[in-house]
Amino acid sequence: MRRSSEPTWSASEALDILREEGADEWLIRHCIAVFGVSVYLASLIMARGRELDMGLVMWGSLLHDLGRTRTHGPEHGYVSGQMLRERGFGRNLVRLVERHVGGGIDAEEASKLGLPKRDYVPETIEEKLVCYADKLIASSKVVPFETALRRYSKLLGRDHPGVERMTRLHEEFGKYVG
Ligand SMILES: [Fe+2]
Repeated sequence: MRRSSEPTWSASEALDILREEGADEWLIRHCIAVFGVSVYLASLIMARGRELDMGLVMWGSLLHDLGRTRTHGPEHGYVSGQMLRERGFGRNLVRLVERHVGGGIDAEEASKLGLPKRDYVPETIEEKLVCYADKLIASSKVVPFETALRRYSKLLGRDHPGVERMTRLHEEFGKYVG
């Protein structure tokens, strides 16, 4: 079934998808934690009068790591997108999950990882919000942004463009959680 956009939000359908694909309890708890922070952030943003697609945020945050049922490498976001595309979900959701890894992956890095050479950098508010919320969760616990920044700086190097993009996300959304 091909859908032009994501279907009406259903927590049970999203959790069923995770379970059907073999997600373990660790992964399900992680996804629920990212979902919680995402909905919290999205609600605060909407309360300030800014519009966003809450359905997309909810589907995207709960299913962003679906690809981790197949790989834990940095390509898992792309794999999440492929799995959701195969299930008939629309482009907005596919792009959101593809773009959540680190601070996003640019075309050069993507091709080094063996992914189709294009940018996987979050652009829309929903994409950026879920990417940022994911950085605030370690396993299933909320952590300060600085903890995530330290982790990725160590992993990628402080001057890595992904780390810079992450800092920009914090500048945009940090005020809602600080
Ligand atoms: Fe992820």
